[in-house]
Amino acid sequence: MRVGQERPFTKCEPLLTLVSEAASHPLPFPLMSKAAEKNQWIVRRSSIHQRGVFAACDIPKDRPIIEYVGEKITKAESTRRGLALEEKAKKTGGAAVYIFTLNQRYDLDGATAANPARLINHSCNPNCESFIIRGHIWIYSLRDIKAGEELSFNYGFDLETWEDHPCRCGESCCVGYILDKQYWPKLRRILKTKAARQEKIATLEKRVVALKKQLRKK
Ligand SMILES: C[S@@+](CC[C@H](N)C(=O)[O-])C[C@H]1O[C@@H](n2cnc3c(N)ncnc32)[C@H](O)[C@@H]1O
Ligand SMILES: [Zn+2]
Repeated sequence: MRVGQERPFTKCEPLLTLVSEAASHPLPFPLMSKAAEKNQWIVRRSSIHQRGVFAACDIPKDRPIIEYVGEKITKAESTRRGLALEEKAKKTGGAAVYIFTLNQRYDLDGATAANPARLINHSCNPNCESFIIRGHIWIYSLRDIKAGEELSFNYGFDLETWEDHPCRCGESCCVGYILDKQYWPKLRRILKTKAARQEKIATLEKRVVALKKQLRKK
């Protein structure tokens, strides 16, 4: 599973939000220097998952906050690394996803200490979003952000492996899983069907127990 989504969608290829728009997206601000960028955020423990990135000062809407940097890799290499990372994460409870969709041919593996943006957690009600601008992935503020708020964006995962990625963002609108918003209605239908099925099974189990009791009495 990679962060982000490209368009058009293809199976197994979760794509990067706003990629096509980003190609022609005018920058609301010029790209900031690393030094300026650094003053805006700090890394701390997060209530969502292990470490997170937090606003170090008030950040206005539409501000480039941090670049997501890493190693440019092919899709095949990305799939290999992604699967290996997921296997490791299942065993350790660590993070599974540091690979970001760059375009239809390449991804960016951000699993490096030189990339603090890798520590930004997902939220169902994010205050940031990602843009690809001239081959660079930038995390922008979606709204005004107060100093101390945890930075987050929607990872844009597809429905393929939703059960593997429970969401603990804690937002009132949380859909329960790390998922692109476009899939929320479908996921809600899936969850409703699943809950109804579980309820039916529980009712049937109770009936079986009652029936066994009756038979024992006879
Ligand atoms: C790119 S890392 C984010 C940084 C991570 N907190 C860390 O300390 O390494 C992505 C991983 O963080 C975790 N994560 C991020 N957002 C989450 C959320 N909303 N709910 C649960 N886990 C989340 C998942 O394990 C995911 O695979
Ligand atoms: Zn959530």
